[in-house]
Amino acid sequence: MDIKIFDSPEEVDLFGARMIVELIKSKPSAVIGLSTGRTTKGLHREIVRLYNEERFDISGITFFGQDEVLGVSEQYSGACVRMLRDELIDELGVKDDNFIMLPTESEDPQGACWKFTQTLMERGGVDLLFLGLGENGHLGFNQPGTPFSSRARVSTMTPELESRIRRETGTPPGKYLGGITMGLADVMDCRKLVLGVKGSAKARILRKVIEGPITEMVPATVLRTHPDCTVIADREASQLLGK
Ligand code: GLP
Repeated sequence: MDIKIFDSPEEVDLFGARMIVELIKSKPSAVIGLSTGRTTKGLHREIVRLYNEERFDISGITFFGQDEVLGVSEQYSGACVRMLRDELIDELGVKDDNFIMLPTESEDPQGACWKFTQTLMERGGVDLLFLGLGENGHLGFNQPGTPFSSRARVSTMTPELESRIRRETGTPPGKYLGGITMGLADVMDCRKLVLGVKGSAKARILRKVIEGPITEMVPATVLRTHPDCTVIADREASQLLGK
């Protein structure tokens, strides 16, 4: 695991954006995985800025999201598809065929997971997946206790996130609401992984991910067994490393 520490969150965004842009330029058919949340907003903004400055060709690039909220409308502002479209995909003008997402609503979510995985394989497999880190060590919606051998499937979110989304979308307690996500084995199949970590709220979990035992109770510790994983963290998130 390669660990790079930056003075500010903006430098993390810029470095991550540069990695993605360099991949786009060097491999015009690259398959690139994205994550949503506070960590990646700035990263996406930087990619858009670099695109507007440099106008590199993205017509053959496939973008996809690693996870989604299941049981909400695609228009909901907290749906990953909505966030990725608003922050990056529509800004770059990516065509629909080159933007692959797990569904927010589906009669057959497991079938949709298989199709998602199949599509990524048909495009040649994932070149780079940019990950955020949950405060409990989750990756996507792979919560603590998820087997490292897990594949794309319907999953759960943290109770805090679930109650926030229920409140924001007016989803009643009886109606299904969950997560749908790439599995940890799918993550490990990606050729390159980048984990972005920013802010002091992530300091304790980042220490566990890098220095604690490799365990399914902290899903992100599986990244230490990947041959090409880079952690890009800011000073605040790194403050407990080595202590
Ligand atoms: C969420 C998302 C993940 C994201 C992670 C970190 O649950 N499902 O895709 O990477 O948590 O989010 P944040 O960057 O807001 O801390």
